[in-house]
Amino acid sequence: MEEVNSGVPAHVGIIMDGNGRWAQMRGKKRSFGHSAGSKNVDRIVTHAFNSGIKTLTLYAFSSENWARPKEEVDALMHLLKIYFNKFIKKVLKNKVRLSVMGDIDMLSPDLKELIIADMEKSKGFTEHTLNIAINYGARQEIVYAVNKLIKNGEEVTVDSISKELYTAPFGEPDLIIRTGGEYRLSNFMLYQGAYSELYFTDVLWPDFDETELDKAIESFKNRKRRFGKVI
Ligand code: IPE
Ligand code: IPE
Ligand code: MG
Repeated sequence: MEEVNSGVPAHVGIIMDGNGRWAQMRGKKRSFGHSAGSKNVDRIVTHAFNSGIKTLTLYAFSSENWARPKEEVDALMHLLKIYFNKFIKKVLKNKVRLSVMGDIDMLSPDLKELIIADMEKSKGFTEHTLNIAINYGARQEIVYAVNKLIKNGEEVTVDSISKELYTAPFGEPDLIIRTGGEYRLSNFMLYQGAYSELYFTDVLWPDFDETELDKAIESFKNRKRRFGKVI
């Protein structure tokens, strides 16, 4: 008998792409799309946790996104500040643990402080985790992990690297979703995503609603995960 997945994915990663095009289609500046995209985060987080997803990892800003025009980077950083200022109240009310993965030392000191304070306040919650990737790059993450092992005199193995990744406490993503019609990972969870199921949709991030998330979960449920074995 074929083994078919029946469960809801425990850990889902989302590459939230397509904000710029969403705005340009409306004759607006790209930052307008980022603003719409950040509003969408709320409804997807709520729906994800209501659907039984335990950990949601959202790709908000890549290590390579610094190369965008300063005006756009500033707009994104401003939205992140608003998010961490306001959203945390809701997160705490719903007993969600907030986590951030990426090199936050490169962020402005006030944003970094907000993030650290929010992570601290919510660290007691274990049921659901919202993990936001900011200034994140998977290659950098792997290099950092390996260097740490070498520095500590530890053996470099598949498992020891895994234990040094940002995602070590939550495990590997079962499903990675990318909105916005591109079929690539853009430096997102390259190590821990080795056996993740991938789901691509043309829907642009600001339009990715509850129904679209349901479709991705449905697709996951019908996947046959073999992990290299014959089943
Ligand atoms: C995703 O939307 C958000 C970030 C990368 C920060 P984009 O800004 O990449 O939107 P498109 O892909 O140009 O439409
Ligand atoms: C990936 O989207 C990064 C985020 C969604 C934060 P990009 O728009 O930066 O990816 P590329 O440039 O199309 O690969
Ligand atoms: Mg993009």
